[in-house]
Amino acid sequence: MLGKNRKRSVVGLDIGSSALKVVELKEVRGGFELLHIGHQNLQPDIIVDGHIIDLNYVSDCIGRIWIDYGIKTTQVATSLSGHAVIVKKITLPTMSEEELDEQIHWEAEQYIPFDINDVNLYHEITGHDSSGQNMDVLLVACKRDKIAQFTQVISQAGKQPVVVDVDAFALQNAYEANYNPSPNQTVALLDIGASVMTINVVRGATSIFARDISAGGNQYTDLLQKELNLTFDQAESLKRGGDGDSGATVEQAAPAIQSVSEMLGLEIQRTLDFFRSTAVDSPSIDRMLIAGGSSKVGHLTEYLSEKFQMPVERFDSFRSIRFDHKRFDEEYLRELSPNMAVAVGLGVRVAEVTK
Ligand SMILES: Nc1ncnc2c1ncn2[C@@H]1O[C@H](COP(=O)(O)OP(=O)(O)OP(=O)(O)O)[C@@H](O)[C@H]1O
Ligand SMILES: [Mg+2]
Repeated sequence: MLGKNRKRSVVGLDIGSSALKVVELKEVRGGFELLHIGHQNLQPDIIVDGHIIDLNYVSDCIGRIWIDYGIKTTQVATSLSGHAVIVKKITLPTMSEEELDEQIHWEAEQYIPFDINDVNLYHEITGHDSSGQNMDVLLVACKRDKIAQFTQVISQAGKQPVVVDVDAFALQNAYEANYNPSPNQTVALLDIGASVMTINVVRGATSIFARDISAGGNQYTDLLQKELNLTFDQAESLKRGGDGDSGATVEQAAPAIQSVSEMLGLEIQRTLDFFRSTAVDSPSIDRMLIAGGSSKVGHLTEYLSEKFQMPVERFDSFRSIRFDHKRFDEEYLRELSPNMAVAVGLGVRVAEVTK
């Protein structure tokens, strides 16, 4: 598409329900270097349940980010999450790529709970069993209307959407770019955003289970609003350890915060139990890495570590990404680091697009 020798760049754009996140990377020897990073909060009624309510507003925001941060590249990689996406690993009798191409629609109809005409399908053979009789196929279905919405806001902002990925795989790409995964390590990657929690269990560099759950940081804010009679902004501030001029104290907020953390822990547990019950020989998980803004909720990582009896760390999106210390404030990058995981994972697609 791009010509063999023409180096073109791509900007990763994560259209999250609470904020737009932008990362532009450059491929350098042995890794990536940060060229641009942008973050723009969105009001809670702009993107609801994965649906962009105000398309014009979002496309204006995208345009403004490009101007504010001086981004010149216009090709964009973005991603979808939540109800719009289904990721399934299925086992089929071994067949050739051509045979699979012919059959996959029929197979997908049995596994995908949407009308097959309403989705874009993607599939990839990921392995064979020891007898060679069966093969594992990764099946991804994305709702067409959601793809159309996301590409529309990008086009409307005068940019070209060239990649539409899935948050779970973008998260995995960010992990691979930063953590140099060893083949025998099984890690549960999580991204806890405002409204969606993405889980991707990765062994080495292979995804063995991926799922999105409709739960996230909004639930802390909602409960704090209700329990302490606060506005959205006051509750958001309290959740982050401030007082938001509400008069409420961190001590008053603690029980509500703990109860939502427990609820999220239960959702994670259910999902991991389901993963263990469905995967044939599911390896045990060695540790968890938590991305997304909600990874910063007080004591959440410690709580999950205790609950699941394994090391749980906040995801560092810039762990191995080089950056110019004169252009980027280290403290700012550290604070935003977990929030930027999906955008970084989309930014690393530059390595493919430039080929
Ligand atoms: N310091 C903090 N402490 C607690 N929560 C925080 C903090 N900073 C951000 N958050 C929460 O993180 C969430 C935003 O994170 P993120 O940007 O990853 O979400 P998103 O990508 O917009 O949402 P989604 O992926 O669910 O659509 C919000 O709920 C916000 O309140
Ligand atoms: Mg997100």
